[in-house]
Amino acid sequence: MTLPQDIDMTPNAMAANDWYKDAVFYEVFVRSFADGNGDGIGDFNGLRERLDYIRDLGVTCIWLLPMYPSPLKDDGYDIADYYGIHSDYGTMRDFEDFLDAAHERGIRVIADLVVNHCSSDHPWFKDAIERGPASPYYDYFVWTEDPNKYSEVRVIFCDTEPSNWTYQPKVGKYYWHRFFSHQPDLNFDNPEVQEEMLKIMDFWLGKGLDGFRVDAVPYLIEREGTNCENLPETHQYLKKMRAFVEQHHPGAVLLAEANQWPSDVAEYFGKGDEFHMAFNFPIMPRIFMAIRKEDRQPIENIINLLPEIPADCQWAMFLRKDDELTLEMVTDEERDYMIGEYARDKRMRINVGIRRRLFPLMERNRRAIELMHSLLMTLPGSPILYYGDEIGMGDNIYLGDRSGVRTPMQWNGDRNAGFSNSDPSRLFLPVIQDPGYSYQGVNVEESERTPSSFLNWLKRVLRIRRDNPTFGRGSIQFLHPANTRVLAYIRTYQDDTVMVVNNLSRFCQYVEIDLRAYDGWTPVDLFGKIPFPKIGELPYLVTMGPHGFYWFRLVPPTVPKEHTVEAASGTYPIPADS
Ligand code: NOJ
Repeated sequence: MTLPQDIDMTPNAMAANDWYKDAVFYEVFVRSFADGNGDGIGDFNGLRERLDYIRDLGVTCIWLLPMYPSPLKDDGYDIADYYGIHSDYGTMRDFEDFLDAAHERGIRVIADLVVNHCSSDHPWFKDAIERGPASPYYDYFVWTEDPNKYSEVRVIFCDTEPSNWTYQPKVGKYYWHRFFSHQPDLNFDNPEVQEEMLKIMDFWLGKGLDGFRVDAVPYLIEREGTNCENLPETHQYLKKMRAFVEQHHPGAVLLAEANQWPSDVAEYFGKGDEFHMAFNFPIMPRIFMAIRKEDRQPIENIINLLPEIPADCQWAMFLRKDDELTLEMVTDEERDYMIGEYARDKRMRINVGIRRRLFPLMERNRRAIELMHSLLMTLPGSPILYYGDEIGMGDNIYLGDRSGVRTPMQWNGDRNAGFSNSDPSRLFLPVIQDPGYSYQGVNVEESERTPSSFLNWLKRVLRIRRDNPTFGRGSIQFLHPANTRVLAYIRTYQDDTVMVVNNLSRFCQYVEIDLRAYDGWTPVDLFGKIPFPKIGELPYLVTMGPHGFYWFRLVPPTVPKEHTVEAASGTYPIPADS
């Protein structure tokens, strides 16, 4: 077994049940990452062969998009068999080999689990249609004769679905679906459905999977007179799910996909008895807004609305992922602003969001993109990176649905970007060829050999983050300098204190920060280990370049060596009470 030098494989680190607090996640679409058998579609063997790349990037946990048998009408979020591997991606053995190979490298793996719905191709639904109420699976779904039932519920895929009900002629009733009509919702009022899901989780966790990103959790239960989202009964079931995992697979993580307003998202942590992690949907669009407005208000305002979360819980921070940049949970005014700034061309929009990758969104503005990563890495939570964003991949807004941000990974300048050795026309999606983003220039090989590439920059940043557990575990205290173009905060964990200062503006700024509480301390820049002038009683002056940022360790006044202790993060005075 080859152990990477830069991952802590000590039994304590690998066994810690709250490993997700220090993790760096990487979202991978098996289909898009690497094709091992030359059929034009990515697969587990291809992904396994690229694990060293993922490890060397500094990733410690892979998140797989659904890999189960599926008609792929929603790229696998339409599951036809919860216990298998899609034949396009390989065999169960290939999956197991991949999992072992990831674990050998100290990389954990979580996978998407779609609990809210299945595919209309799933045998449960087929049988329910075939035999109607006589089928043991009929009650696995939600039926009605009255399509006006649950009329207060929004339609999420509003570009394609006119209603959450679709008529099933053979049954003579309508069935309920919160997403596409080929994705019938499962009926979580049925205890058998509840049990089925636990069995499925048990199966995959038993294989060694390290957890699940649980899809679309707010919609499990329906009740008349409500919007059928975030209902207490849904939370009750999710708590059961967590208890099951704790009992049978301690150490596995559950990550909630709940695209909701701040207080509703935070509910998915429960009292530490529901999800370990939840995507920080509220903050994501506000990062884009704050940078375009050159003002910290959007970020500060939303953070003020986010409740404290239980001690063992963690936000999943992200800038982009496989879905559109969703604008469902912003005000009308904020939505108009975002569309106006980031999606002027109609093709960039889908449902209530923007289907573009990070680099095109930011017009390849390297400084602004680095700044966004400063926020991603230093605001409370664990970062999630989206495959391809680390090399600055572009998108293709002329492809349907969200395919434009799910194109083949660009490995080199060869045929099919090194993704596959199939004929180009056989690829499941075309590679990006447009000037500025073409695989000939934007690819892993090129990024790796260019010392100043974004990829190499990101690797360094991830190393700094890894060496400083304070970012994943520390508390946060916002500083409120008069210059609102600057967002500054202090992160504290045990005896370590780090100050982060971000210039959201495209122009130089100076900022005066009240740091009297640290009188006599020295800020040391974490990138170059450069000590800055000591903090005094007067406001601390920092000058910043366009979109610049600093990560400073605040080092207390020197004390004689015999009065200090060595910690992973530096040398500190012995606390007074020891
Ligand atoms: C949420 C997933 O992120 C999205 O990609 C999918 O289309 C819907 N759930 C429906 O499954």
